[in-house]
Amino acid sequence: MCGIVGVLGDHEVAPILVEALRRLEYRGYDSAGIATVNNGQLDRRRAVGKLVNLSDLLVHDPLPGKSGIGHTRWATHGAPTTGNAHPHRAGRVAVVHNGIIENYKELRAELAGHGIRPETETDTETVALLCQHHLDQGKTPVDAAVATIDALKGAFALVFLFDGEADLLIAARKGSPLAIGHGDGEMYVGSDAIALAPLTNRITYLEEGDRAVVTRAGAEIRDQAGKLANREIREIRLESARIDKGGYKHFMAKEIAEQPGVLSNALRAYLNRDTIALPVEGLDFNKIDRLVMVACGTAFYACLTAKYWFEKLAGLPVEVDIASEFRYREPPIPSGTVALFVSQSGETADTLAALRYCRDKADRIISVVNVPESSIARESDIALPIHAGVEVGVASTKAFTCQLNVLLLLALKAAHARGRMDDAALAGMLDDLRGMPGLFNAALDRDGVIAQAAQKIAEARDVLFLGRGLMYPLALEGALKLKEISYIHAEAYASGELKHGPIALIDKSVPVIVMAPRDSLFEKTVSNMQEVMARGGKVCLITDAAGAQEAGGDVWQVIRMPEVSETLAPLLYALPAQLLAYHAAIAKGTDVDQPRNLAKSVTVE
Ligand code: F6R
Repeated sequence: MCGIVGVLGDHEVAPILVEALRRLEYRGYDSAGIATVNNGQLDRRRAVGKLVNLSDLLVHDPLPGKSGIGHTRWATHGAPTTGNAHPHRAGRVAVVHNGIIENYKELRAELAGHGIRPETETDTETVALLCQHHLDQGKTPVDAAVATIDALKGAFALVFLFDGEADLLIAARKGSPLAIGHGDGEMYVGSDAIALAPLTNRITYLEEGDRAVVTRAGAEIRDQAGKLANREIREIRLESARIDKGGYKHFMAKEIAEQPGVLSNALRAYLNRDTIALPVEGLDFNKIDRLVMVACGTAFYACLTAKYWFEKLAGLPVEVDIASEFRYREPPIPSGTVALFVSQSGETADTLAALRYCRDKADRIISVVNVPESSIARESDIALPIHAGVEVGVASTKAFTCQLNVLLLLALKAAHARGRMDDAALAGMLDDLRGMPGLFNAALDRDGVIAQAAQKIAEARDVLFLGRGLMYPLALEGALKLKEISYIHAEAYASGELKHGPIALIDKSVPVIVMAPRDSLFEKTVSNMQEVMARGGKVCLITDAAGAQEAGGDVWQVIRMPEVSETLAPLLYALPAQLLAYHAAIAKGTDVDQPRNLAKSVTVE
C-alpha cells in the first residue's frame, strides 16, 4: 500500500526521494509524487502510473531543494489521478499519508463551515486543509500539525512539510507503520527501513500514537498524551534491507529460488539436535484447550494447513478464520484459548484488529511474522519470526513456506508436550524436516516441465484446483497464486466436494490441477480425477513417481515431485504451485512483481 518518505538532507533531495520511493514500489501503487522546500518555497510534482513517469516529469520540470517528502499512492478514496496523488497541499502545508482518515467527511463539513472547500476526492487533502486552517488561526507549524493529528480518526502514517520551513518534518503514526532514520547531519522518515537502507541503518520505529518533530539535529518524539518518549535507535542489519533481483528477472522468481536457503536458515534458528528451540517459554501446551488462528490471504492458507497438523499430531482443537470476518463477528474466546496470528508483513490492518480483539480475552497471543519490528509482532505475547528475509514480490512465496515451517514446528512441539509424539517420532520428523531444503532443490529442478505445463494452462480462461486433506489448503493457495499474478480465474475445491456442485463446471476448456502425492488419501483423489476425465476434463496432476504410475496414462499433464512424507508434503508442493503461477503469468505477459490492483502490505481494511 502507500509508501512514504521524507528527507532533511545536505544534497538535492528529489533524486533521493525518488530512489527511496523505488524501494517502496513493492508495496503496490498507482501514482507517485514529491514535494520540496527550496529557498523557503514549497512546491510539488506528481504523476500517475509508475515512478518512471514522475522521474520523466522531474527531468522536464525539476524540483530543487534539500528538504522534501515523497509518496507512492495505492488509491482508496478517489481514482488514481494526478489531482488525487500525494503530496496534498493546502496553502503552506504539504502532507503525505498512508491509511484511511475515517472521519474525513465530518472534518470536511467542519471546514466547510469556515468556507474551506476541498479540490480532490481524497481523505488526505482534508488533513492538509485542517492543518492550514490551524496555521491561519496563528498556530506554529508544530502546534498546527499536532492539533490536526489529534482531530483524526482512523489509521494513518503522516508526514507534514511546511512552506518556509526547510529544517522541519512532522511525522505521526497511528495504525500504519513509520520509521525515522538517523543520518550524519541528515534525518529521514520512511514507511519501512527498506526505503531508507541506502541512507542509514540507524532506525527508530515510531510506536502507536507517536508524533515526531524531525529536524537535521534529530527527532523529538512524543507519545499520544504529548509526553516525551524515549524510543530506541536500532542498528538494522543492512543485508536484511537489501533489495535487488540478484540476477533474476523478477523478485518472485528470486524468492521462489531462495526457499531452500531461507528454510535452512530457519531450521538452523529453531532446531537444536532433537529438540525444537522455538521461544515459547511459559506456554504450557497441556493447559491449552483450543487454538484460534487468524490471518488473511496466503497466511490464512498457512493457518488452514496448520489446522490439520495441530489437530492430527497434537490432538489440539483449532479454529481458523479470515481476519476481516473474525474481527466483526465478536466470537466468544473462552479461557484456555490461545490466539495465533500469521502475517508476513505484520501490519495487515484486519489481522492486527483481530489480534486487538483477542488482547484481553485469549490466554496468550502468539504471532508468526516475517517482520519482527512489525505492529503484530510487537503487540503479541510471543512473536515467532519465520526468517524468510525481505519478501518483495507481491505474491507471497518464500514467506508461505517459512510460515508453514514455523507452524509445523509449533504443532510438533505441542504434539510432543501433550504426549502424542514420543522422542523417537519427533526426532524422525525433525530429520525429515532437515532434508526438506534438499527436496526443495529437487522440486526447483522441475522448473522446465512446470513451465511447459504452465504454457498450456495460460491458454485457459478458468482453472480448477483440487486437493484433499493437507493438499486442500495447498490447492486454495495454488488458485490464489494463479489468479493474482496471471489474472486467470482460478478456484480451488476439496476433491470430495467436486460432486456437490463444481463438477458442473468441467469441460475440456477448464484445466483441473490436482495436487496429490501418493498418500493415504490418494485413491480417493484418483476417483475424483476419473470423474473429471470421464467428463472430458483435462487433468494436470502434481504427484510423486508412485502417484504418477497409479494414476494411469489418461492424465493430460503430470508434474513429478520427489517423495516426501505425508506430513511434510504441503511445504514441498507449495513450490510447483508457485512455479505454475509464475510461468503462467510470464506466458500472459503480466506484471509479475506488481500485479494490477494489489498491494504487498494491506494496511487499510
Ligand atoms: C498473496 C498474498 C496475500 C497476503 C495477505 C496477508 O500472495 O501475499 O494474500 O498473504 O495480504 O498479508 P500478510 O501476510 O502480510 O498479513
